[in-house]
Parts: sequence; C-alpha cells; structure tokens
Amino acid sequence: MVILTPGPTEIPNSVLASMMKTVNPDLDQDFFNLYNSLTEKIKKMINHEGSVYIMSGEGMLGLEAAIANTIKKGDKVLSISNGVFGESFAELAKGYGAEVTAVSGPYDEPIDVNKIPDPKGFKAVTFVYVETPAGLVNPIEDVAKVVKGSDALFIVDAVSAVGGMPIDCKALGVDICLMASQKAFSSTPGLAIVAVSDRAKSVIKKVDYGGYYMNFRVWDENLSKGIFPYTPAANDIIALNAAVDLIYSEGLERVYRRHKESRDATINALNAMGIKIFVKDINYAAPTVTAFYAPYNPNLLLEFTWKRLGIMLAGSWGKLADKVMRIGHMGYTARKEFVMQAITALAAAMNNYGLKVDMISAIDAINKAFSF
Ligand SMILES: Cc1ncc(COP(=O)(O)O)c(C=O)c1O
Repeated sequence: MVILTPGPTEIPNSVLASMMKTVNPDLDQDFFNLYNSLTEKIKKMINHEGSVYIMSGEGMLGLEAAIANTIKKGDKVLSISNGVFGESFAELAKGYGAEVTAVSGPYDEPIDVNKIPDPKGFKAVTFVYVETPAGLVNPIEDVAKVVKGSDALFIVDAVSAVGGMPIDCKALGVDICLMASQKAFSSTPGLAIVAVSDRAKSVIKKVDYGGYYMNFRVWDENLSKGIFPYTPAANDIIALNAAVDLIYSEGLERVYRRHKESRDATINALNAMGIKIFVKDINYAAPTVTAFYAPYNPNLLLEFTWKRLGIMLAGSWGKLADKVMRIGHMGYTARKEFVMQAITALAAAMNNYGLKVDMISAIDAINKAFSF
C-alpha cells in the first residue's frame, strides 16, 4: 500500500520506528529538551524569529488558534480567498466576529495583487501560500510587499509548503506561519505547528483571548516554567523530530530540488498522457502537489488505483471535487519511484475504463525530469 496523496503522505520507516517508545512528556526533562530543539530546527527551516508552538491537533487547529488569539469581534480582516482554504480562512475569521473583506479570484491562477486593497486599518491579512486542492502557489513575495508597512498581521497558511519549498518568514514579514506534521514533513497526522512573531505576540497580549487550549499566552506561561500546558502528543512530536532530522540530513536545497523535479516529472508525464493540469501555468504549479482534470470519473479511477493496486491518489475538495484529481509529491514521496507509481497506477486505471494512454512517453518524461 502506498499513500501518494497531498498529506497525509507515506511516512519513512525510520520516522515510524522512532515513535515506538513509552514516554511521559510531562515529567521527562529529555522530552522537554527534544521539544525545544525541534522548535529551533523548525524556526531555522522557515527563518522565523519568535516562538514555535507544536499543538496536539491537525493543521486546522493552527488556523483557528491564529484567529482566536489575534481577532476580536468587530476587527477588520482581509482574506485572500482564491481557493478552498483561503475561503475557509475567511469563514473562520467571520466565526470569531471579524468583519471580513475577501479578495477572491479564480482557483487556477495566483491572486492578482492589484486587486488587494491597502491593508491599512485591517487587523490581519490571511493568506494561503499553497492551495492544496488546486495545486496552486500564491505569490507570497508580492503579497508580502502589499502587507508590509501596514499594521496588519500577516497570517500565512504554509501547511502544504513547509518542508517542500522554502519560506523566509523574516524577509517576508510573516507574523504567524501555519504548518502541519502530515504534509511535507512526512510525519504522522495530529500536530499543528504554529510560528508566532514577537509583533504578533504584542497583539495577542492586547486581545487577551479567554480560551485555554489554543491560548498562546497559556503556552508561554507554562513553557517559561519548563512545563507544557497539557500533556502533549509526545510520540507524534518524537516522530516529527525524526522527520525534521531526516530533512536536514539530506539538506534543504536538495529536498526542495527533489520537490520541483517531482512536480515537473508529474506534469510532463500527465501531458504525455493527454491530461491537462488544473492551474493555467507550470510557473505557479505547486512543488508538493499536482492537481489535474480527471480524465474519467475520478471516484472510479481512485477506487481502482486503491482497491486493485494499493496506490492511493486523491480527488479534490469543494467545487473541484467532481472534476479534479491530485497526486501528492510531498515530503518523502517527492521521489522518482513514487511519481512512477502514481503515473503508472493512473494509466492502469484509465486503461481499465478503455482509455488508452502513451505510457512510454510518460515514463520517458519522468526519467528526463529527475537529475538524481
Ligand atoms: C492549505 C491547507 N491548509 C489547512 C489544511 C488543514 O489541515 P488539516 O487537514 O491537518 O486540518 C490543509 C489540509 O489539507 C491544507 O491543505
């Protein structure tokens, strides 16, 4: 069985093996030290100055915590909403009483920065770097330039980016960067990773959010005493630490190159099979996931690859659900052998439904795209 979806991903055996131990994270100083050193490694990966919190819960918990800690009823929030997660970020902010101005755009193109109003007077700007359902990369540098100079907090969902492509939080002025363990880290699902800048912390102090579980002030108070606010998901954190070490031992440059080459290989192979990718231009196609127009009923194709071949590919979400399929080349699976498996599985499924594809050209395209 192989999971070639855009998170959760396949998890390397060494990462799975690392978590098989009994640990009491509340009482074990070694675990506290491991947690601290892991947050330092993540900070370095995203060039972040400030704190990193590793919370028990999936990526969505991080998005909600970012809003809960910074937004009060009546605050103005600017939401870049050209995708499923951009739109749900806007909904989330509305749920906390924000007055949301949503900047929408087609799902298959990067947001047009000229459409973004001056963020002055807004409390925060929410932005999704990689829209996973569409396989789209949004122009973070351009948006960062618009946000810079305003007082608005720059809250970035980098859930499907970190670990597979670079992000420089300091240079971009990112105040809150959101990540998740099961995406390009290729670790177990269950951890929301949230980087919070000192500037965001001063806003958080004033907002004085009253909740407990997601409250970053509660985290700081406890961590400064050398304890956690509640029992953390220790084994998932140990696995994430092993996954991050694996990324560093390979080297960030090489990891990012592997992702780009996996994207190129996937897109070129799909083209060779006569399949159109969803985004309009490869220049903004995500290095971590490729979304493409389903060449046949996506549910039937997905059922075939999973039930008959043991290879899991993905459909999509929201209004893309009926027409778009996705291949994850994310984290550990951004490798030639996994791209080969995804493409040959898709071809076999298409063949099963009477669609003939040029397999040899697809295989050649994959081989050509990889330099190692
Ligand atoms: C861009 C993006 N943001 C947020 C999330 C939510 O993460 P989770 O499913 O871990 O809650 C996802 C999940 O796919 C995502 O792709």
